[in-house]
Amino acid sequence: MCGIVGYIGHKEAFPILIKGLKRLEYRGYDSAGVALLNKDLDLNVYKTKGKVKQLEAYCKGKDISGNIGIAHTRWATHGEPNDRNAHPHYSQSENLALIHNGIIENYLSIKKLLINEGYSFKSDTDTEVLVHLIEYVKNRYKLDLFDAVKRSLNFVVGAYAIGVIEKGNSDTLVAARKGSPLILGVGEGEFFLGSDATAIIEYTSNVIYLNDEEVAELRLGSSPKIRTLKDQEVNHEIKKIELALEDIEKGGYPHFMLKEIHEQPKSLEMCMNGRLNRELMEIKLSGITDNIERFRSAKRILITACGTSWHAGLIGKYLIEELCRIPVEVEVASELRYRYPVIEKDDILIPISQSGETADTLAAIELAKEQGAFIYGICNVVGSSIARATDSGTYTHAGPEIGVASTKAFTTQVAVLTMMALTLGKELGTISQERYKKTVQELSEITHKIEKILLLDKEIEKISTVFTYARNFMYLGRGYNYPVALEGALKLKEISYIHAEGYPAAEMKHGPIALIDDEMPIVVISPKVRIYDKVVSNVQEIKARKGKIIAIVNEGDVDVKKMADFCIEIPSTDECLTPLLTVIPLQILSYYIASIKGRDVDQPRNLAKSVTVE
Ligand code: G6P
Repeated sequence: MCGIVGYIGHKEAFPILIKGLKRLEYRGYDSAGVALLNKDLDLNVYKTKGKVKQLEAYCKGKDISGNIGIAHTRWATHGEPNDRNAHPHYSQSENLALIHNGIIENYLSIKKLLINEGYSFKSDTDTEVLVHLIEYVKNRYKLDLFDAVKRSLNFVVGAYAIGVIEKGNSDTLVAARKGSPLILGVGEGEFFLGSDATAIIEYTSNVIYLNDEEVAELRLGSSPKIRTLKDQEVNHEIKKIELALEDIEKGGYPHFMLKEIHEQPKSLEMCMNGRLNRELMEIKLSGITDNIERFRSAKRILITACGTSWHAGLIGKYLIEELCRIPVEVEVASELRYRYPVIEKDDILIPISQSGETADTLAAIELAKEQGAFIYGICNVVGSSIARATDSGTYTHAGPEIGVASTKAFTTQVAVLTMMALTLGKELGTISQERYKKTVQELSEITHKIEKILLLDKEIEKISTVFTYARNFMYLGRGYNYPVALEGALKLKEISYIHAEGYPAAEMKHGPIALIDDEMPIVVISPKVRIYDKVVSNVQEIKARKGKIIAIVNEGDVDVKKMADFCIEIPSTDECLTPLLTVIPLQILSYYIASIKGRDVDQPRNLAKSVTVE
């Protein structure tokens, strides 16, 4: 939520900041703003409701010169999305400008104190207290900007990644973080600030990851000065980020989401690279084998995540319980963190997160850590907060995912969970050698099968045109494909704004069946697996009530095909791998329904990709 970017160097800051904001727009797009110090060292702030494009238009004809600046793209929490609440915020004297990602929990008490000291507030945000507080502390204790920020943040409760610049001070940019992501880019005679690496990758691949409660002073001509809030010096090593520019561009596709759907064979290959050995038909997952004793003694595995990652976690339960016979519970992180859960020392917590920054997931990790659980993470973003907070784990290596609706992150999460369950099942002796070999063989062929499904793109687009009228959709699946039904429904509602519900197919008769009429589209996920016949009966129940059936079936299907209005035929595979195939047509279906309806597919209203607030 919210993206921040900063620059200090010898180049013009404005184009760098705007490009950075566009890359970070996936984090929020309610408003955008920029603060620049021009050659007379005046501090200019321009901000406006809407997207970065609107900010660019708003800045036309204005003084956008300067070699130092900060910029922000907002996902509103405190205060509605409007010009006034957009960042950067000025301090009372307009000598300081500040950008912030996070939430200041004690902002009301700080605000009261500052009002008593004569400060007045122009916005409804929690952020504005920070900039006034820093100015107050700076003046009262006669500190420079760096020390003022450091001292002020000791009074602050909550999460923040901030950037601050000062009128008349052309060679200093101060940044700090706690709980929200922030990296410093170290170029040749220039520094950058970014919520993530995509904002700065064009200019440098040398970065410093700030830790919680650290403040950095970026000053031209010297190396970054970093100290903790308790004033201890910190020396971070500079890390190299591996990110190619083409990974974060659309590459000819109209939307990132469509590009990312079509990238799945490649992202799954990257995910399995070095882990799945096609010659020996075996999987090596060092995270599991290095910690095998921990897994061997585990009484229970707890999986926690949010959104799409939670759906991957649900599939993980089916996989681990079937193949490893270890009890697994799956819970959304926002519930787990606040409900006094029983977590024992022998438990293993598996947090799953694409971004590695989701606030609720991070909090659930801290809670489980306090109770002594071993934390094994599944993350996409290397070096992210969740990746760093875990004891061990496996990266999904899906590459950057930019479309707000998650696609390739989901399939790589499921692939990691599959590889984990197979590795663990083999080590624990809970699956036969024959089953292991057969499933690994099937997994090794999965990307070819996905390529085949992707060829159905145009056929699925045609089906989509029929259903743009719908105001409600139902998605049904059983077993491994029940979480896929949830994921299909989530994809559709996120980007098309059509209400959709995912349900276990047999549970339909306990309520949702009442919704079925001849206008209601129902997506049934019915590959020919163990409980296929049961799903066939559920389809009959829908047919009897004249629902419009879109079925995902295996090539050569007969029974469901007879009843369905539309069929999407996909290759067959081992039952436990079916989610990797069945989800693909659902992603494509929701993409086309949304794009035909003219929705903003990559940046749907009210959503953000990285949810760093609870
Ligand atoms: C947001 C995103 C979803 C994502 C969820 C969890 O809601 O829009 O796509 O699944 O957050 O994010 P994470 O990065 O932890 O997987």
